[in-house]
Amino acid sequence: MDSPVRVLVLVALFFPVFVDCAIRHYKFNVVMKNTTRLCSSKPIVTVNGKFPGPTLYAREDDTVLVKVVNHVKYNVSIHWHGIRQLRTGWADGPAYITQCPIPTGQSYVYNFTITGQRGTLLWHAHILWLRSTVHGALVILPKRGVPYPFPKPNKEVVVVLGELRIRILNLECNLFLIMCHRPIYCQLSGGNRTPKW
Ligand SMILES: *[C@@H]1O[C@H](CO)[C@@H](O)[C@H](O)[C@H]1NC(C)=O
Ligand SMILES: *[C@@H]1O[C@H](CO)[C@@H](O)[C@H](O)[C@H]1NC(C)=O
Ligand SMILES: *[C@@H]1O[C@H](CO)[C@@H](O)[C@H](O)[C@H]1NC(C)=O
Repeated sequence: MDSPVRVLVLVALFFPVFVDCAIRHYKFNVVMKNTTRLCSSKPIVTVNGKFPGPTLYAREDDTVLVKVVNHVKYNVSIHWHGIRQLRTGWADGPAYITQCPIPTGQSYVYNFTITGQRGTLLWHAHILWLRSTVHGALVILPKRGVPYPFPKPNKEVVVVLGELRIRILNLECNLFLIMCHRPIYCQLSGGNRTPKW
């Protein structure tokens, strides 16, 4: 091996960011967290104490490794909605379909490669009702050096739509939330529109 090649190999080893397809490591701790929305507080199941959960970022061709550790009393599994699992069906997430759920106190590493996809998708729990609070965005950027298929936006904001059941004046209400950094609008499930909260 002559020296320029050796230097290149060393650079690739020490600066993996220069290598075309990266490995993205994420850790999801599934934990209970007292959360306040629309003046109502209650303990909910979350990832890393966040509601909505953390946003995953990756580039096309990257491998994503998500270690999910279950600290709650429910069985858990996570589905990467819209990701084409090519020969990685065991990383897809539906409980009792492609995997046994992760029991309390145990963990599982989701390992998949993103191929031929760009855009913003959703990840969510795929067991029981847990998906109502265990969910978040998954942003797939184009490969490094490849432009967006539209003019590059000045700014990107992730907007997550969700639903939350809370009690207002003794009424159980399903609220439809649009969440950026905070709820910006809600609507009673009966269809009666309310003004912005
Ligand atoms: C939520 O708050 C209640 C009342 O303050 C407390 O007893 C409980 O331990 C809290 N739960 C969590 C998960 O922090
Ligand atoms: C939790 O999942 C394990 C398998 O991962 C299963 O044996 C057990 O029955 C499940 N528990 C409940 C309450 O569904
Ligand atoms: C992820 O999957 C790839 C391809 O099957 C494998 O080579 C690698 O060892 C796996 N990584 C982990 C941490 O499981």
